[in-house]
Amino acid sequence: MADPAAQPQGDGIWRSRLIAGIQALLLAALLLLVFWPRPAWGLPVEGGHLFELHCAGCHPRGGNIIRRGRTLRLADLERQGIDGPEAVARIAAVGIGRMDGYGAVLGEGGAEPLGAWVWGQALADWPRSPVPPVVTRADSVADLG
Ligand code: HEC
Repeated sequence: MADPAAQPQGDGIWRSRLIAGIQALLLAALLLLVFWPRPAWGLPVEGGHLFELHCAGCHPRGGNIIRRGRTLRLADLERQGIDGPEAVARIAAVGIGRMDGYGAVLGEGGAEPLGAWVWGQALADWPRSPVPPVVTRADSVADLG
């Protein structure tokens, strides 16, 4: 036989647990909102970060430390028939001549923003401080000059 007096008390415990649960959820949501990593894909700056990570070693500021005449400056690109962001993305992914392809490290959907970024830089004649100071990944901003 259930004690009728126990019922409201049980409800009260349930309700306070519910409220505590909701509070915890709200807190978690707030923390997520604050600390959620910014969505990297699609942001133009992400191409710049990929470049710093995977290309700048051989192509500092769009140059070429291995083959001098094959830089990422507009004149050199056009001389090679590289005529837009897609062509740059393709080279980044599969390589060209002595340069290896970087498709594996760029990951799916990485080559396109990178190609677009490189092409934009070429059009702008590789300005000195290409990447805006937006910190999305601590490891990729170390050597921006
Ligand atoms: C290990 C050095 C190295 C790295 C890293 C590298 N490249 Fe290259 N890149 C080269 C060399 C060498 C060439 C010239 C290839 C040839 O024709 O033999 C080249 C050529 C190119 C060209 C053609 C340029 C021209 O004027 O013909 C493009 C575009 C290019 N690289 C883009 C990239 C991108 C984007 C990345 C980053 C994913 C990258 N490279 C990473 C060495 C590198």
